[in-house]
Amino acid sequence: MQITAPRGTRDIMFEEARLWQRAEEALRQLADLYGYSEIRTPIFEHTELFVRGVGEATDIVEKEMYTFNDRGGRSITLRPENTAPVMRAFVEHNMGAKAQPTKLFYFGPMFRYERPQAGRFRQFHQMGIEYTGSGSPMADAEVIRFSLDYFRMLGIKQVKVHLNSIGCPECRPRYKEALKDAYRPNLEALCESCKKRFDANPLRLLDCKSPECRALVPNPPDVEDFLCDDCLAHFTKLKGFLEALSVEYVKDPRLVRGLDYYTKTTFEFTSEGLGSQDAIGGGGRYDGLVGEVGGAPTPSVGVACGMERLITVAKAQGGLDVGPVKPVAYMAGLGEAGAAKAMELAFMLRETGLAAEFDTVGRSLKAQMKYADKLGARFVAIIGDEEMSEAAAVVKDMAEGSQREVGFSDLVQHIRELMGR
Ligand code: HAM
Repeated sequence: MQITAPRGTRDIMFEEARLWQRAEEALRQLADLYGYSEIRTPIFEHTELFVRGVGEATDIVEKEMYTFNDRGGRSITLRPENTAPVMRAFVEHNMGAKAQPTKLFYFGPMFRYERPQAGRFRQFHQMGIEYTGSGSPMADAEVIRFSLDYFRMLGIKQVKVHLNSIGCPECRPRYKEALKDAYRPNLEALCESCKKRFDANPLRLLDCKSPECRALVPNPPDVEDFLCDDCLAHFTKLKGFLEALSVEYVKDPRLVRGLDYYTKTTFEFTSEGLGSQDAIGGGGRYDGLVGEVGGAPTPSVGVACGMERLITVAKAQGGLDVGPVKPVAYMAGLGEAGAAKAMELAFMLRETGLAAEFDTVGRSLKAQMKYADKLGARFVAIIGDEEMSEAAAVVKDMAEGSQREVGFSDLVQHIRELMGR
């Protein structure tokens, strides 16, 4: 029986893999420009890290983690996100002892047991940055602007920036109570997940997509009215910085995000043409997380974007457009001696930096010509018995339609000359 890739996973190959390479290159370029260093954390971590970091009452921890006991009986989880792991590494390597801030970026696979649909996978990839050691709203502004610069590098236009503040442990409890007061009269009529959220995680009541729940409480209290002086000042300054950096945003009072570590700023980026899974990225400030994973309290802010969604949008908007890699030259050998010579010449070309191919599946000359054309080779060199005796190949320039006999030892120079024309 045929074995297929597990549900919610996909193979990235050929031209699409080249798009991914481009997107990774762009990320590295931008990270250099902005001063972020790369961090590569393990694919799996102790389960406890996510329970503590992401939060017990989140969808991710409650029902989406790939968790198993390893052979030593430890509970291990495939990382569903990378902010908690990066902060774990920040503490473990005592990065806080160095001059701050610490600016890190990453790129890699994440795992969530979600219901697969367009744009939603069980193994997906994120690029992300984490800006640790600064509580300034300037850091928030930088992270948001970095993301927008990255989208632009991928040719993605028209990204909507949604912005909110969800306060801090000081002012949020009052807001939670106000929210519960607003939802309590309709508690019985709310959907099952909202009923659970009411006690476990009331902020997420705002997140419910059900039109019925939304209709029951059409105008929930706005968190901005409940922010403490510090959170309000932070939010106000951030908006000013974003304006100074020409970032357009919409204030979205329902934007609470699905991870528990956020404090103050939350934001999300959406793009058209992705259907219901339209968030290409999201993030926010998380001033309590480093403390939560065992370090000294360290204010931080970061973002992560879904690469599958970014690539889909970039492709649709024509921003990233790469073709297949084409060999410069195809060495078409005839007969045993000709085929062996074709191999030798192909390696000679490769040594000088010219991409070359040759036949290993026993095609006829006609079939080799056809195949060379399919690969998109600009030059085809034919090496048959006659050519062997003259130590020369017939070189066809497929672009110009011309051909000439060229000595084996002059082949590289001849091809380079024609390329230079
Ligand atoms: P998140 O919103 O859970 O945040 O994920 C960020 C992005 O990853 C989403 O906006 C989406 O583009 C992509 N994504 C999430 N789940 C899937 C999925 N199942 N399939 C495809 N794409 C998906 C975080 O992960 C936080 N760690 C972001 C952050 C960094 N906050 C601070 N620093």
